[in-house]
Amino acid sequence: MATTTPATRPANPRFSSGPCAKPASWTLNDLADAPLGRSHRAAVGKAKLKAAIENTREILGIPTDYKIGIVPASDTGAMEMAMWSLLGERPAEMVAWESFGAGWVTDVVKQLKIEANVRTADYGEIVDMTAVDYNKDVVFTWNGTTSGVRMPNGDAIPANREGLTICDATSAAFAMDLPWDKLDVTTFSWQKVLGGEAAHGMLILSPCAVERLENYTPSWPLPKIFRLTKGGKLIDGIFSGETINTPSMLCVEDYLVALEWSKKQGGLKGLIARADANTAEISKFVETHDWIEFLAADPAIRSTTSVCVKFTDARIKDGATFAKAVAKRLENEGVALDIGAYRDAPAGLRIWCGGTIEASDVAALMPWLDWAFNAEIAAQ
Ligand SMILES: Cc1ncc(COP(=O)(O)O)c(C=O)c1O
Repeated sequence: MATTTPATRPANPRFSSGPCAKPASWTLNDLADAPLGRSHRAAVGKAKLKAAIENTREILGIPTDYKIGIVPASDTGAMEMAMWSLLGERPAEMVAWESFGAGWVTDVVKQLKIEANVRTADYGEIVDMTAVDYNKDVVFTWNGTTSGVRMPNGDAIPANREGLTICDATSAAFAMDLPWDKLDVTTFSWQKVLGGEAAHGMLILSPCAVERLENYTPSWPLPKIFRLTKGGKLIDGIFSGETINTPSMLCVEDYLVALEWSKKQGGLKGLIARADANTAEISKFVETHDWIEFLAADPAIRSTTSVCVKFTDARIKDGATFAKAVAKRLENEGVALDIGAYRDAPAGLRIWCGGTIEASDVAALMPWLDWAFNAEIAAQ
């Protein structure tokens, strides 16, 4: 029973699953080179936007024949742009294992009204991806931010598929290996693993996705903000930094700073290692405490960014109230902010472990979990 107050506090209590913590070295002064008050179409602005695209390509190892665009409305904007522009040419397979994936199902089934087979898994589990029909268009989430699960790899996706794979990778990009040859559309937001700002989304298209865009026109109208083609041709400018509408050059600068920081961590490999090391701190704690478990029982599908845990002690009277009270206690102490489980997810905690988090901070938080748990058991 750890009822005494731990001696050490995390240097940074920010463990939110988005917007995520900025790197420990980050300061506002890092943004001093942002071309504020200048047109994003001026040479300086265009060069910054192009650098954001090309540094993304370099760090994530995205093939040179894939297109990378900066689009409006964060990850949601990128996903909806892709679904509204590409789907409807053939039936879809909609795969969901948590709240955001479920949101994409609603878009496709209720709004676009596309013929779709819906496959879902409970929180903490994923769908059997070998059972999916890849000759249809498949929409799925790589890492379930609200359920703490992830795809173990892309092996289930065949190379010779006829449909497109559309992957929401917002809490996976920069923390996990993404098999680009298996992904036709990939999206993410700067606000996640790199601790950047929200509002801008990244849309990554394979040659097959571009082919679909150029040869298929949806039957529904597309607002300007979603339009990726003109006269049956891809608007190439979007993929070289000529954004559809005005981006925030302050956010762009912040993303560029985050990308440079990533390079200093050893690029993608270094970022994956950091997320793994952070998650290992939680694993050590879970293994040695019998009142806490991962929401994802199977380590093969356990997330290394949005790590979700639940309380399993028989003395707990009301799981949701208990988990909320633990999170509140930790927040009041200033040792962990925003770690309550997502509103639609099972009761528990969600501790972000992406690369911008320091392993020493995760390690320092663990005794506080013990402290808050025991305090709350006593307070019940
Ligand atoms: C898997 C997933 N998809 C989509 C979103 C929505 O992202 P945004 O608010 O950046 O559009 C989130 C945000 O947490 C997410 O975790």
